This record gives sequence, structure tokens and C-alpha cells, in this order.
Amino acid sequence: MLSTKSAEVVEATLPVVGAAIGDITPRFYDRLFAAHPELLRDLFNRGNQANGAQRQALAGAIAAFASALIAHPDQRPDAMLARIAHKHVSVGITDDQYRIVHEHLFAAIVEVLGEAVTPEVAAAWDEVYWLMANALVAIEDRLRAETAAGGDPAELWRPYTVVARYQETGDVTTFLVRPADGGPTPASRPGQYVSVRTRLADGARQIRQYSLSGSAHGALRFTVKREPGGEVSAHLHDHLHTGDTVELAPPLGDIALADGDGPVLLASAGIGNTPMTAMLDHLAAAGSPRTVVSVHGDRDQLTHAFRADLAQLTAKLPNATAHVFYERPLGDWPAERTGLVDLSTVDVPAGTTAYLCGPLPFLRAVREQLLTAGVPAADIHYKVFGPDLWLA
Ligand SMILES: Cc1cc2nc3c(=O)[nH]c(=O)nc-3n(C[C@H](O)[C@H](O)[C@H](O)COP(=O)(O)OP(=O)(O)OC[C@H]3O[C@@H](n4cnc5c(N)ncnc54)[C@H](O)[C@@H]3O)c2cc1C
Ligand code: HEM
Repeated sequence: MLSTKSAEVVEATLPVVGAAIGDITPRFYDRLFAAHPELLRDLFNRGNQANGAQRQALAGAIAAFASALIAHPDQRPDAMLARIAHKHVSVGITDDQYRIVHEHLFAAIVEVLGEAVTPEVAAAWDEVYWLMANALVAIEDRLRAETAAGGDPAELWRPYTVVARYQETGDVTTFLVRPADGGPTPASRPGQYVSVRTRLADGARQIRQYSLSGSAHGALRFTVKREPGGEVSAHLHDHLHTGDTVELAPPLGDIALADGDGPVLLASAGIGNTPMTAMLDHLAAAGSPRTVVSVHGDRDQLTHAFRADLAQLTAKLPNATAHVFYERPLGDWPAERTGLVDLSTVDVPAGTTAYLCGPLPFLRAVREQLLTAGVPAADIHYKVFGPDLWLA
């Protein structure tokens, strides 16, 4: 909890700091990567750095954390911290790196805000930073202890052998991998992701996350869409073949299908159906009697990965329906299923828990439609395939 004195100072300076975040973040990252070039090469996603996405996420999260502390001084916004902590553990952040980030972040704040950063203001924001950092460190330590990530981030990465690879569509490939040492495959929950670390042509070791896309007889299965101009997705498509080895961190991620009896709605667009396929696969394997409504949007039948899996898994479940929308369908296709996902024509049962995954405009639209259909905000869980800019 923030001290009363700091709370007053943070509340008074939040608008100034918030307005300056766009100037603070580039200076922060420039300083950080000038002092530690290895962090950009081997830890941060340099695609996100180049397109600016991650830059907004970190600073936005600190501002959001400060706002939450001011609004509810007695509560820690754990839901927001969980997503970040899972990501941090999955890429191997170490506790001591919080000091490095602190040093360069605060130097950037002083550089931008100058004399406005009085000792009192600096002390108050210092308190916000360490409240958040220490909360993250505690959650991350616990996560490491509870999962196959293990206590030591240095032991996070494990070699896996590709035992099979399938072409799902023209630009989507599935990889099945098993631990190269023959040891057990780590446990996962449907909806979670693995981080994949690859050595690229220029020597950088870049990390990306891929959602598990279903069970695979003891192997881990993940599915990669080739991103236009993307480094790692292209590398995996072009260079990772059956028999090759790839480094993975164990399954992590705070969004996973919760146990229960109530109705479930799984909504996705494009490659966002990887975690949904894992959830549906899990429900089908368990012969779940739950009401399951799958909704998916894609460009057409040929770009739709897991089209056959969706039909087969839905058919296996006693109370499941699937509703597919194509923007430009090939051949005969119902008019009410042509265009973007539109839940007004889908029956959303009372008591539904919804899981969403896709690009931000899709998430915004579907969330809105679910709220209109009467689904409470607390029952809508979403996953974005990039830094969570909703936090910002
Ligand atoms: C939790 C999570 C789960 C995910 N699950 C999946 C999944 O199941 N399947 C899947 O396919 N993906 C998934 N992703 C996305 C995946 O992690 C990668 O982001 C994706 O594969 C793109 O990585 P890349 O290295 O190919 O592209 P990057 O090289 O990271 O590029 C990303 C984008 O930035 C652009 N870019 C790169 N350099 C520049 C530059 N200099 N200037 C401007 N723009 C630039 C690229 O053109 C591209 O559009 C997931 C992401 C997260 C966070
Ligand atoms: C209080 C301090 C910090 C905050 C508020 C913070 C916040 C965030 C946020 C919001 C994300 C995006 C999460 C997501 O969308 O999934 C993120 C990811 C990340 N963070 Fe932090 N972070 C902090 C400290 C650190 C430290 C100390 C490091 C290590 C140098 C670090 C490295 C990373 C990396 C590598 C990613 C993934 C980035 C990517 O793939 O582009 N963070 N962090």
C-alpha cells in the first residue's frame, strides 16, 4: 500500500507523468539498451521495440498501477500483475534486473521532467516503482516454484526435439516437440503458451510466445503463423524441421480454461484460434457435458487453420455448436455468416464464461457484443498476441 504522503504526491503528479510517458519511454529504452545491448539482442522482443508496441506497455503498466493504487489504496491490482509476471517468468527475467530498469527509468524521468522532479516527487514515484517491482518479484518467484520453470531463471530453457510438423494453411505451421533428454513433458493448462528461443542469422537469440494448440500424446503442440516481415515466425517456418532441436520455456500464461460446469464461449479471429483449439481439445478429451459455443472469424476457408479440428472436436461434444464467419467466403456460404464476427445471431447462454483471442479491434468488438448480450465483464477473459496495450 502506498504511504499517505506519497499517494498525495503521486495523485498530483500523475497527469504530468502520464502526459510525458511518450517522451520518457524512448529515452528509458535508449539508455537501457546503450548500457546493456545484450538485453535488446537476447531478451526483449526487438520486433516490438522496432514497432514501438512493448515501449508503451511497460510505462503504461506503471501508470495504470499508480492509478489503481490511488483509486483503491488497500488493494493490489493482482489481475494486472499476473499477466506481466507470467510473461516475465516465461522469458527469464531475474530479480536483480529490476534495479537496472529502475536506474534507467528514473534517469529518463529526470531527463524529461527536469526540475519538476523534486526530491519529494522522486521519492513518491520510487515508492510506486518498488511496490510494483516487489509485487512482481514475489509473484514471479512463486510462479517459478509452482511450475516447471523452476527456481533458477538460468535453468528455464530446455532443448526440445521436433517430432513432427504439419502445414495447416499456406502460412500456418504446427510443430510437435518433446524434451530432447527424453524426460517428461511439463504440464500445461489449455490456453497457456510457451516461449520459444531461437538463434537468428545475425547471432541474436530472440524469444517469442506461441500458444499451445492442443494435446499431442505427451508432446507439446504449438502453431505458428508466418508474420509478414516477422523474424522468428519466418525462421521457424524456414529452418525448424522434424528432428531439429529448439529451446522452449515451460508452459505459462494466466489465461487458461477454468474448471466448472457452466457454459463456455470460445471466440477467436485468425491465428487467435490456437488457444481456443487447445481448450476445445481439452473439453472434447474429457467428454465434457458443458454447453460450448465456438465462434471464429477468418478471411476464408483456405486461411482458416484448424477448420477440420473445429468441426471434429465440436461433433465429439454433446452440447457444442460452432459458428464460423468468413469475410470473403469461397463458394456457397450463408449470408448471415459472411463478414466480421457478429454475436447478435449467436445464442449466448446465461452464465457464460467467455474466452477471446485475436487482434485488438476483434477483442473490442466481441467484448462489446458480449456485454450487450448480458455477459458480466468479470466473465470475459481475453488474450492478445502481443504486448497488452489495454493495460496502457
Ligand atoms: C501470449 C502470446 C501468445 C501467442 N501465440 C501465438 C500463436 O499461437 N501463434 C502465432 O503465430 N503467434 C502467436 N503469438 C505471436 C508471436 O509471439 C509473435 O509475435 C509472432 O510470431 C511474430 O513474431 P515475428 O518474430 O515473426 O515478428 P517480429 O519480427 O517480432 O515482427 C512483428 C511485427 O513487427 C513488424 N516489424 C519488425 N521490425 C520492424 C521495424 N523495424 N519497423 C516497423 N515494424 C517492424 C513486423 O513487420 C511484424 O509485423 C503469441 C504472442 C503472445 C504474446
Ligand atoms: C516494475 C517494473 C516492470 C514493469 C511494470 C513491467 C511491465 C511489463 C509489461 C506490461 C510487459 C508486457 C506484458 C504483456 O503484455 O504480456 C512486460 C514484458 C516484458 N518485460 Fe517487463 N516490466 C517491469 C520490469 C522488467 C524488468 C526488470 C525486465 C528485465 C530487464 C523486464 C523485461 C521484460 C521483457 C523482456 C518483456 C517481454 C517483452 C517483449 O517480449 O517484447 N521487465 N513488462
